[in-house]
Amino acid sequence: MPSNFSVELANLAAAVAPLRELFEHDTRRHEWLAFDVCGIHADFSRQRVDPDVFGALMSLVSDAGVAHKREQMFSGVAINSTENRAVQHVALRSSGSDDTKKDLARRSREAAIELARQIRENTEIDTVINIGIGGSDLGPQMVVRALRKFCNGPTVHFVSNIDPADLDSVIDTADPHRTIVVVSSKTFTTLETMENAARAREWMMSAGVEWSEHCVAVTSSCERAVEWGVKKEHCLEFFDWVGGRFSVSSVIGFAVMLAIGDEHFAEFLDGMHQMDRHFSDSPWERNLPVVHAALWYLNAAVHQYPTVAVIPYSHDLARLPAFLQQLVMESNGKGVTIDGQKVTHATSPVVWGESGTNSQHAFFQMIHQGTQVVPVEFISTVRPMGHDQHTHDLLIANLIAQSEALAAGSQGVSSHQDFPGNRPSSVLLLDELSPRCLGALVAMYEHSVAVQGWLLNVNSFDQFGVELGKDLAKKTAQSIAQGTPDESQTMTHPLMKWFLERRKNFS
Ligand code: F6P
Repeated sequence: MPSNFSVELANLAAAVAPLRELFEHDTRRHEWLAFDVCGIHADFSRQRVDPDVFGALMSLVSDAGVAHKREQMFSGVAINSTENRAVQHVALRSSGSDDTKKDLARRSREAAIELARQIRENTEIDTVINIGIGGSDLGPQMVVRALRKFCNGPTVHFVSNIDPADLDSVIDTADPHRTIVVVSSKTFTTLETMENAARAREWMMSAGVEWSEHCVAVTSSCERAVEWGVKKEHCLEFFDWVGGRFSVSSVIGFAVMLAIGDEHFAEFLDGMHQMDRHFSDSPWERNLPVVHAALWYLNAAVHQYPTVAVIPYSHDLARLPAFLQQLVMESNGKGVTIDGQKVTHATSPVVWGESGTNSQHAFFQMIHQGTQVVPVEFISTVRPMGHDQHTHDLLIANLIAQSEALAAGSQGVSSHQDFPGNRPSSVLLLDELSPRCLGALVAMYEHSVAVQGWLLNVNSFDQFGVELGKDLAKKTAQSIAQGTPDESQTMTHPLMKWFLERRKNFS
């Protein structure tokens, strides 16, 4: 079991009254369970907590040493102990230059801003292709999509999948002479990214484009990028103390800068910085990332609800669930504690989701009446992001109605029409989908994930679980190239044999 697991908390949580009763007995519930922080209104009142459970959660936060760990994170201690690395993405958005990391971050950001300005001013460029995967794709992609209204630069496409169809879908219609390719890869070794980048290079060179003028690398290994053919002035550097999934505020956000310009990017960073300060300075019970994390921990580790549905009602936030899948699941989907002991309680929930209201007409049936309890996180904005107040009001009406229905339930005329209720959900309402509010939201999730990891007592900052598949893929690719199945891969050997025969008909 995670060593922080509290039996007292588990007992209190098991005995908590249904949400209907909690609301009847405490009409001021909304006051202590709602927060207004950095342009985000967070309403946690329909989570399954009473003052005792909430108090026990806050004690757990203290007992788990969150204050000390937060301090270590901000000051650059190597808290990613399995890789002996600091975890200091907060230094990327701090305006100070009082330490080396902040200074390095500032210098790399300035280089990126300068290059982004040149590209945005070049009227011959109308297309950018960001080639990257995981943290080198999901963050910037989600942000560019969310800040659609602020995009006034070249059209930015994101290519991540090694399926050639992904790159084809962009280059089939793009003009290589008017395109900049941004190869985003922390390691500059990732198979998908390097293969796609090589294909993009081939596409440009065969059209007679001076590749090195049209390619930018974003990486922590400029040496590899230069060796690969990127010119030094086009290498934007970030650092091993920035984890891939925590890197959107680094130069991995270069594609965002190209799309929205440096001033709006600065506002995005400022929103993150404001949330960083709130996280570092606020008492636990008024600290938005901490309370958010404690409630996710309660649902996943204590109630053992296996999943969380993240439902952005703002259509422009459609990629938020995908971004959060990596942030949460790659960070906390661990089976051993930070000291290497087996955990016996749930760690990361499965994060999934789709935009509302579409999801209401797809899977909300199960969320309301199915046998599994699925905590839901509803997210939207007060200001309409489209051009019509009336339909925006209908959007918010739907969001609020769903949260009410999940919590309150209702008795139908037959059991088929019964809604059990007592199903937890949170609502996050941003003032608007501006760079600043979005930055605050992203930083809130980053900190929540770190706190969840500290409560679970896992290392949220490594990801060894992706390595085995990567290694085997290399071997398997060799088998395909040689046309001989690898007999040591005993469980997939027959499938490979079948595939090698069958592909002869299609290649
Ligand atoms: O597959 C895991 C991973 O290492 C992620 O953590 C990372 O965001 C992604 O691959 C891409 O890595 P890179 O930026 O080095 O290409």
